[in-house]
Amino acid sequence: MNALYFGMEGVHNTNLPTSSPLPKMAGPRPPTQATAILLALATWCLVFLRSSSAPAVPALRPPPPPSAPGGTLCIPRERDALLTFKAGLTNPSNHLSSWRADKDCCRWMGVGCSNQIGHVIKLDLNSYNYGPLMYGSIGGEINPSLLTLQHLQYLDLSFNDFGGRSIPEFIGGLRSLIHLALTDLFFGGRIPPHLGNLSNLVSLDLSIFGCYSPDLVWVRHLQKLQYLYMDGVDLSAVVNWTHAVNMLPSLLVLTLAGCGLRNIMPPPLHSNLTSLKVLCLESNPFNSSLGANHLVWDLPMLRYLRMYDCRIQGPIPAAVGNMTSIEYMILEGNNFLGMVPSTFKKLKRLKVLTLSENSISGSTEDLFHRLPAYALQELYLDHNNLTGGLPNRLEDFSSLTTLWLNNNELSEEIHVGIRKLTKLKELLVNSNNLHGTLTEHHFTNLSSLRVLWISDNSLSMLVNNTWNGPFKLTSGGFRSCILGPQFPVGVVRSTINTLDLSNTGIHDSIPVEFWTATRHARALDLSGNQIVGRLPANFRFGGMQPVMLDISSNQLVGPIPELSKNLIYLDLSRNNLSGSLPSNIGAPKLEILVLFKNSFSGTIPCSMFELRHLWFLDISENLLNGSFLNCPRVPKTSSITVLNLNSNNLSRGFPSSFQMCKGLQFLDIANNKFSGSLPTWIESKLPYLQFLRLRSNMFSGRIPVELTMLKHLQYLDIASNNLSGNIPWNIPPSLGNLFGMVQTPNQQDLLFYTLHAGLSAIDKYSYAYNDSLSVVTKGQQLEFTTGIAYMVNMDFSCNSLTGEIPHEIGMLIALKSLNLSWNDLSSTIPLAIGELRAVESLDLSHNELSGEIPTSLAGLTSLAHLNLSYNNLTGTIPSGNQLQALDDQASIYIGNPGLCGPLVSRSCSGMEITQWIPEDQHEGMSDALSLYLGICTGFIAGLWIIFCGFLFKRNWRIIWFSFFDCMCDWVYVRAAVSWASFTRME
Ligand SMILES: *[C@@H]1O[C@H](CO)[C@@H](O)[C@H](O)[C@H]1NC(C)=O
Ligand SMILES: *[C@@H]1O[C@H](CO)[C@@H](O)[C@H](O)[C@H]1NC(C)=O
Repeated sequence: MNALYFGMEGVHNTNLPTSSPLPKMAGPRPPTQATAILLALATWCLVFLRSSSAPAVPALRPPPPPSAPGGTLCIPRERDALLTFKAGLTNPSNHLSSWRADKDCCRWMGVGCSNQIGHVIKLDLNSYNYGPLMYGSIGGEINPSLLTLQHLQYLDLSFNDFGGRSIPEFIGGLRSLIHLALTDLFFGGRIPPHLGNLSNLVSLDLSIFGCYSPDLVWVRHLQKLQYLYMDGVDLSAVVNWTHAVNMLPSLLVLTLAGCGLRNIMPPPLHSNLTSLKVLCLESNPFNSSLGANHLVWDLPMLRYLRMYDCRIQGPIPAAVGNMTSIEYMILEGNNFLGMVPSTFKKLKRLKVLTLSENSISGSTEDLFHRLPAYALQELYLDHNNLTGGLPNRLEDFSSLTTLWLNNNELSEEIHVGIRKLTKLKELLVNSNNLHGTLTEHHFTNLSSLRVLWISDNSLSMLVNNTWNGPFKLTSGGFRSCILGPQFPVGVVRSTINTLDLSNTGIHDSIPVEFWTATRHARALDLSGNQIVGRLPANFRFGGMQPVMLDISSNQLVGPIPELSKNLIYLDLSRNNLSGSLPSNIGAPKLEILVLFKNSFSGTIPCSMFELRHLWFLDISENLLNGSFLNCPRVPKTSSITVLNLNSNNLSRGFPSSFQMCKGLQFLDIANNKFSGSLPTWIESKLPYLQFLRLRSNMFSGRIPVELTMLKHLQYLDIASNNLSGNIPWNIPPSLGNLFGMVQTPNQQDLLFYTLHAGLSAIDKYSYAYNDSLSVVTKGQQLEFTTGIAYMVNMDFSCNSLTGEIPHEIGMLIALKSLNLSWNDLSSTIPLAIGELRAVESLDLSHNELSGEIPTSLAGLTSLAHLNLSYNNLTGTIPSGNQLQALDDQASIYIGNPGLCGPLVSRSCSGMEITQWIPEDQHEGMSDALSLYLGICTGFIAGLWIIFCGFLFKRNWRIIWFSFFDCMCDWVYVRAAVSWASFTRME
């Protein structure tokens, strides 16, 4: 369970809206089953993860009524009623085959009769009881004949599929009912207030997504009610829910999660709920503080409170100390402020306290002083604003098994007192400002420790190489701590499952013992060190062998070894590995292979495309040459979805073997030596393409019209080739078919998710996932920055395109960047350009555009960069707030002798305006020089814009990519890379 929670941390940190049910597949089938499962897992986490760190609700269901074991015969009238009821049902799985007229109905499946008279008292058609496969198996209509069963005490129709019908009102006529359950039925509509007539009800389970109730007046008639479950019912119109439930003094269990409840009315003066043991209110948008007199704090018998993600604000009131029976308190993901009240100390039975992801502040010393010691077992305080260090008097907390203090502002040293927590299983202090050195002495008594995360602090860990720790970690996270320069064999020896040693200052070769000690490991991350030497000849050391291995950003040399057969994820990027890529890779389960920035040479072996599960392949920035694939027998299909071959020496025509990658969504072959014409089969063979980068090759000929038919395309970069002819817009089907550029990127999409979150966030942890725990190695990103997921871009610059910019361009309203510069485009700028409301960068410079600048440009409110220089534009420069706010106004329009206005050297009345360039410089300035100056001013100004942009908007990193086309690309890349590493250091 916790592993999922840990895993999601990576996702949280990418600022994804946590409410979005990510990531569903769009487009082609999921790349592999494993990925689909992992994504399902991720989805599962997002929905349920908040509760995952919390124990389940204690099973407090009422027992079913005793029913006859046989012997009694059923009453014919009731039997007939049941048969009529059955006739109304659809029953695809023949669930009710035992329901036959010639059999005693007391022996039918799901039917129970009373001992004495033989009345049907129980009808249990809860499909889930018959196994998950039966789920939703009964449908159809609920016949009012059920009303004949006037002695019915127990009715359970949960987990069936009644096709969105309303709950029938007549159920309110079954007056004997004690237990009614309609959970998760596909019901819809209003919950009939007639249920209020069921005054004998003890248990009512209406956890139905899709139903609503405008008030809870009917509930107050259920005076015997002990169990009320209404999770998911839309109660957003109910203003007095606290008053309504306060009318039910017998309640033991109340769950109203995800009901849209708000806090509008002041709560009742005193609580009637003196017996309530379980209260679940999570995921309601309270949006306010729960004051000291709120019902919630006035529940003396409550043992279990779940109230996460309720947007509760303000401090936790002192009245919390009245909940003296509380054992589990789950309050994460709210906005509780300040220090917890000292009355917490009165909660002597508190075992589990979850205050993660709030704004709790103050020192840990103070906090621990206010917490009840001794009983407390699990304490989750991560993602708050706590200061200080690990508190001094830890011996009082010797029952603690779990302590999460990660992502706070802790800044002291970790003192050896930590070893007094002898029962500790999980210690998370990662992402703080802790400093100092951890030694063997810190761990002497911690023999139960299984999870230790100290990543992202200023900590060092100094243990002897012969050290054999008292514990065996299932998950050790040491990222960015100092463990080197020698390889920390002692730490490796004490870790059995997942180990993150990334960026730990190791400057050493990998000792053989590392491979033998980690032969049972699932995930190993050694990235970002200075590991030298070669990899062993093969990765087979017996045992399970890792499924995830990351040794990227080191100084490894030599060839790729033969891989272990369980490997799913391998990242060896940013090393000095060389030789040719192995023709037999030896890892049939491989899904992700990242080898960019090495010195691999030779051709790309066919075997890569025979890996059935491989969907992500990045071999960019190597020395690969030849044509794309050189196989005697090209495989027919490949599961590749993301393929990056950028910056190699690949040549010849656009590879026809891409046709086998039908599911391809991301294709980058930029900066190679591909030539010839662009293929016309691209739309029919690669229909799911979203990102296509062909930049800086030698492609020639016309742009095929098929390129404009790619429905999912959101990023198209064909800049810096020798393409000529018109841009094929006018021919139907026109550019408007590029739906990917008409809609904003779909955040539910797998690729979006991968690109946005980065491989580290989604895949590493998932691949490392197993039943126990996993390492999250966030913070690393794909070579292309993750903002690319948001980028809607069209870059045709630096070609020889002719003809006009047609008005259809205005249909691509999601475009954020449009670059048509350095072509031979003529005619006027279409008015429709003003439709591109999302455009942040627009470059039409260095063409032969003529006519006036359309005033509609002034309506582009997102515009941050504009370049119209070096055309034949004439007339007045339009004004508008956005245009006036752009930096370096003059360079936008330079090189258009026909333009007039205060920004250029010509007033519209024909007078020269020269004040913006000093006279002496103006004289004798050659065309070439002014061109150069123009570029440089633009460049310097632009660079500052980039930096400012980076400061405020992560996504801009990519947007600016297209600015300094042709000449300035590399400068940008430099800047971006340094900036990225700078921000990472923050
Ligand atoms: C407590 O419950 C009783 C019985 O339903 C009701 O009459 C009374 O008004 C309730 N008290 C409060 C303060 O809501
Ligand atoms: C609840 O706690 C508050 C503050 O500690 C106290 O003033 C109040 O009397 C308590 N209420 C009950 C019913 O104990």
